[in-house]
Amino acid sequence: EDGKKELYYQINKEAAIFYLKAFCQTSNPGLTYMLKRGIQPVTLKKFGIGYADGQWDSLYRHFMDKKVDVKLLQELGLVSESKGRYYDKFRNRVMFPIINTRGKVIGFGGRAIDDASPKYLNSPESPVFLKKNNLYGLNLSRQDISKENCAILVEGYMDVISLYQSGIRHVGASLGTALTESQAKMLRRYTKNVILSYDADSAGQAAALRGIDILFKEDCRPKVLHVTDGKDPDEFVKKHGKEAFKTLVDNALGFVDYKFSMLRQRYNLDSYEESVDFLKEAAAVLRSLSPIEADVYIKKLASEIKISENAIRLEINGNTTQ
Ligand code: UTP
Ligand code: MN
Ligand code: MN
Ligand code: MN
Ligand code: MN
Repeated sequence: EDGKKELYYQINKEAAIFYLKAFCQTSNPGLTYMLKRGIQPVTLKKFGIGYADGQWDSLYRHFMDKKVDVKLLQELGLVSESKGRYYDKFRNRVMFPIINTRGKVIGFGGRAIDDASPKYLNSPESPVFLKKNNLYGLNLSRQDISKENCAILVEGYMDVISLYQSGIRHVGASLGTALTESQAKMLRRYTKNVILSYDADSAGQAAALRGIDILFKEDCRPKVLHVTDGKDPDEFVKKHGKEAFKTLVDNALGFVDYKFSMLRQRYNLDSYEESVDFLKEAAAVLRSLSPIEADVYIKKLASEIKISENAIRLEINGNTTQ
């Protein structure tokens, strides 16, 4: 079985090299696009960024010359068949190889250069690519994550690459999908401290809330960072630089404070009834903490809502008689 996997890895690597060669041709649209987005050649090289040209079947023909079984190419999502003809799945896209921590190319993300849809095309799951088990960038960043004792988790390829280029290297991305238990377990091997730095839209906020719970279950201590300008970390760090992003990191909200801030948005704390509902939800959050951890928040809440600490403690300790 491992031998079969090795074959898939080899094919993916060969494809990555093929895309890389196209990216190194003078004035190809992929390179032009990435330079325009402010990514420097040294960073492009570090991440192995490539270019899938606009032809229908250049990758397919490349592999046919090498006598590779087309079935394998199809399984890896590199080639598709239609009406008896084979064609390349990735065309006219910037190619991001997804490389696992053992250095194997397990799949690709391809960003459209023009306004083609989808914006990002990703490899399907395959015998070597289980999306829920991988984080983009971890192959480069895990030592930095250990050293900093902190991981910054972002949504996208470009967020990872821009932060990394700026010198913030303890980053990884769950690639648009919700963080999984298995990804949280992977991170936990390097650090407990995970800072969720998702896009500044409602989808990003919702993903942060879900991410918090998954990380907490895996014994992590999540925080949430909010970019104060631009729609994601990539835009922010390009505009404001490393130090400004570090300030955001320093100001990231602990997960309890983040949950409370989200709750506050849903309740009008000038209303007595709504304050009670707010407190009930807040108590549910505190129930998951140790008494010592909960204590400081109980004090804060009591003074904010003007209710006795004791009442909050009773609520937390399962006052379920109503
Ligand atoms: P975003 O829509 O936030 O894109 O998706 P982005 O990363 O900021 O992309 P740029 O800056 O416009 O290039 C975040 C991530 O979600 C996944 C990709 O992994 C992307 O990086 N995604 C997004 C897809 O898989 N397919 C899509 O069509 C869009
Ligand atoms: Mn989007
Ligand atoms: Mn987004
Ligand atoms: Mn972006
Ligand atoms: Mn984004």
